[in-house]
Amino acid sequence: MKPTRKKEWFDDDVFWRELYPFMFPEKRIAEANQQVAKILALTKPIDKSVLDLCCGPGRCSIALAKRGYSGTGVDRTKYLLDKARARARAERVKIEWLRQDMRDFVCPDSYALVLSMFTSFGYFDDKREDMTVLENMFRSLRPGGVCLIELLGKERLAKIFLSPVVTLLPDGAMLVDQHQIVDDWTCIRNEWRVIRKGKVKTFKFKLTIYSGLELRERMERVGFASVKLYGNLDGDAYDSNAERLIAVGRRPASKRVAKLRAAVRP
Ligand SMILES: C[S@@+](CC[C@H](N)C(=O)[O-])C[C@H]1O[C@@H](n2cnc3c(N)ncnc32)[C@H](O)[C@@H]1O
Repeated sequence: MKPTRKKEWFDDDVFWRELYPFMFPEKRIAEANQQVAKILALTKPIDKSVLDLCCGPGRCSIALAKRGYSGTGVDRTKYLLDKARARARAERVKIEWLRQDMRDFVCPDSYALVLSMFTSFGYFDDKREDMTVLENMFRSLRPGGVCLIELLGKERLAKIFLSPVVTLLPDGAMLVDQHQIVDDWTCIRNEWRVIRKGKVKTFKFKLTIYSGLELRERMERVGFASVKLYGNLDGDAYDSNAERLIAVGRRPASKRVAKLRAAVRP
């Protein structure tokens, strides 16, 4: 039975619809092709089965399908899944699209590659739910499979922290992004105002921010082995020049996994 949960900011489709032009401009969607080439070089999956968790409008799922990967895209937002479906049709690729919450979706032993791209991790007030997501990702991998998580790391955020940031679209719409670090540097609280044709819509949301070490330790706790951190998809070091935090971890190929998990559990 599905758990009953309180409504959270990411459950609001209006948020994703209003922010769509800022989050997913054509340039970012087009970039996915190059990103996917780098992801494959970094992860070297054992076969062509892939899960794009929180796939949004399908940027990565579609780029992967065009390279012959057979994929599942999972997302909770109908508006974004509709965009993904329409784009996949236009690109003539077949992908399984599922509307599900990342806390619930698990398809055991199914994928060689599991992706969480463009800061799709750290959404829950209850931090144990982030652990549930990591467990789901781990369980959905085939033995020997690999997972890649890409987000804005805490170290990078501390380096570039600016307030506020204003983004303008060619049609005159404006996004004013104000943010605050809260809860002892564990979270960022955002207030985004979209101003379009003189009308203002305000969206407030909070994300958990992870340092490289915090993310790596959590991945190890659910069983990921050989977790490596990178500062970009080219595979450069996660150091003071890092632009993003990329964590790559493998599900061990052998039965040693149970032992490893037991060893790192508190
Ligand atoms: C910043 S977007 C990233 C989209 C995509 N990964 C990409 O690289 O373009 C975050 C995505 O997470 C999805 N999302 C948010 N909360 C979710 C949840 N609880 N379960 C599943 N998807 C969720 C949103 O609908 C949105 O598509």
